[in-house]
Amino acid sequence: MTCLVTGGAGYIGGHTVLALLDAGHQVVVLDDLSTGFRWSVPNNAKLIVGDVGDFDLVCRVIRTEKITSILHFAAKTVVSDSFRDPLGYYLTNAVKTQTLLAAAASETISNFIFSSTAAVYKSSESLVSETQNVQPQSPYGRSKYMAECMIKDVGAAHNMRYAILRYFNVAGADPKGRNGQSTKNATHLIKVAIETALGKRACMEIFGNDYPTVDGFAVRDYIHVADLANAHVLALNRLQEGSESLTVNCGYGRGYSVREVVDVVKAVTGHDFEIRLAPRRTGDLASVVANSEQLRSVGWIPHYDELPTIVRHAYQWELELASERR
Ligand code: UFG
Repeated sequence: MTCLVTGGAGYIGGHTVLALLDAGHQVVVLDDLSTGFRWSVPNNAKLIVGDVGDFDLVCRVIRTEKITSILHFAAKTVVSDSFRDPLGYYLTNAVKTQTLLAAAASETISNFIFSSTAAVYKSSESLVSETQNVQPQSPYGRSKYMAECMIKDVGAAHNMRYAILRYFNVAGADPKGRNGQSTKNATHLIKVAIETALGKRACMEIFGNDYPTVDGFAVRDYIHVADLANAHVLALNRLQEGSESLTVNCGYGRGYSVREVVDVVKAVTGHDFEIRLAPRRTGDLASVVANSEQLRSVGWIPHYDELPTIVRHAYQWELELASERR
């Protein structure tokens, strides 16, 4: 049984490809390489360079590669960008998902796993569970939520089982050093802080210190990318065994403020660096932390749920990037 991984040359898709291969699955990657990297696709996975919104191409790939399951990562993912480019976000995340689903339905795909996001929730002081607080606050969150709705409806109409995984803040890198976050001009907190620690940036900004949180800084639930990748393998195995569709949060259930994260980065890297306070960033929420009981209840056991471990792996990867071997 071969799975098609859209966006498999990107950060989270790339780590999931490694986890799938490690677990003995056959993998075909479909990626337009707009933000992903050819080098990140291992030799034992097949890479097809193309657009997930190309119906004929997707149908052809499903048929020729005998695909039975699709894991759909290809997306635009930056909350603040989505306010500047809502049409781009709706096209990539909603319209192209509709096309991919149409191809999946016409080729009778059995299992569909979708990269969704904590951005479908509004800010909350308590842990968010899957059925509460669904109220996306950005074009990005809305585009992903639209895709979720389509997947559920198509699943019901076409007998396609699905797993919708709502990621909280993904960070870290493959513990074996095979992959990591390599995005140019990254906006993610841990990557930006590590780049600053390494002197790639002169200083970094913290966006907002007046949130209604314990220390005034925004709070997020940071999940190691390898634990998240394993959640996909678990979800796929369950669907392939005939388990019911599910929608689950992927986080650890522990929040850290921006200030706490920066302090951990300084401690792990051993470098102090300059911080500037800046106004709040458009679309940022005060606090989003997962209730992850549901994912744990289906057998997910995280192995890297310590912020210093996440930062250490991300730092090791950043050193690898700096060595220019990549
Ligand atoms: N932050 C800074 N300075 C920076 C970068 C980030 O202060 O240079 C702050 C942000 O303002 C925010 C926090 O760090 O308060 C986290 O920001 P990220 O950009 O790392 O992540 P986001 O929470 O904005 O978004 C990420 C993913 C989304 C996903 C979301 C789920 O990019 O795709 O997590 O919570 F939807």
